[in-house]
Amino acid sequence: MVLLQSLDALTQWQASMGWHEKVTGFVPTMGALHEGHASLIRLAKSQSELVVVSILVNPTQFNDAQDFETYPRTLEGDMDKAQAAGADAVFAPSAEALYGGKPQATAVHWGPLTHAYEGARRPGHFDGVVAVVDLLFQAVHPTLAVFGEKDLQQVGVIEKLAKDRHPGLKVVVAPLVREPSGLAMSSRNARLSTQGGSSALALHQALLAVQRGAMDGDVDRAVRAQREALRANPAVTLEYLDVLDALTFVPWSGGGQEARPYVVVAAEVEGVRLIDNMPLKA
Ligand code: PAF
Repeated sequence: MVLLQSLDALTQWQASMGWHEKVTGFVPTMGALHEGHASLIRLAKSQSELVVVSILVNPTQFNDAQDFETYPRTLEGDMDKAQAAGADAVFAPSAEALYGGKPQATAVHWGPLTHAYEGARRPGHFDGVVAVVDLLFQAVHPTLAVFGEKDLQQVGVIEKLAKDRHPGLKVVVAPLVREPSGLAMSSRNARLSTQGGSSALALHQALLAVQRGAMDGDVDRAVRAQREALRANPAVTLEYLDVLDALTFVPWSGGGQEARPYVVVAAEVEGVRLIDNMPLKA
């Protein structure tokens, strides 16, 4: 596996590998790779001849400067993990090189998809995600790109970006990966104490309860009960627990052949912001 730290190095490597004649997979990341990322890389590898993993802590998608500064940067360990999962190259340019100067993002207004839920709580976040992923797609030119279902709203945003600006590109959605305890894997989990990790399981349990409620035919009641339970939990600061259509990020209350209903949650545990989601089986 090779490390490519500039756009020129990427272009030269791609030419030497016959990139444009092959089925190529791409996994964009911000590093701090864990088993969830490894599963994305393995999925890309199973569907492609060559796989590039990008690692870039993208400044334009952070609305909290301290969150950006403290985001883990672990390139060496990430390289080992990417290689073990089957990557052929890690592309890790500087933000300035990728953006062609000072990193900046144009505002994107795609209705609730960019402005509800995560978009409302993290203003400008999806502007930054769209800016960096658009530039990465232009640089890497993959046949397919893999994104994790853990960031469900991001998946919707990327699917729209691909449809509008990269029509030949296939977006592959990889299932969310959980710890054996049920906690959704995230680079942020490393900031939780053992006790915090146990407290965070309340989110998974709430999602399971809503999923059961949907199967029993009373999803609204289950949502109300689980919101109350999470609000009463002193270890959890609930931001939202809701059922929505993952295609639009509009609240869902049943119906619609095309709808992709999910229960989603965001909450803080020990000051760490966690998100999780689960599909509702009708
Ligand atoms: O999901 C992430 O890690 C980031 O949002 C992404 C897609 C790599 C863009 O920086």
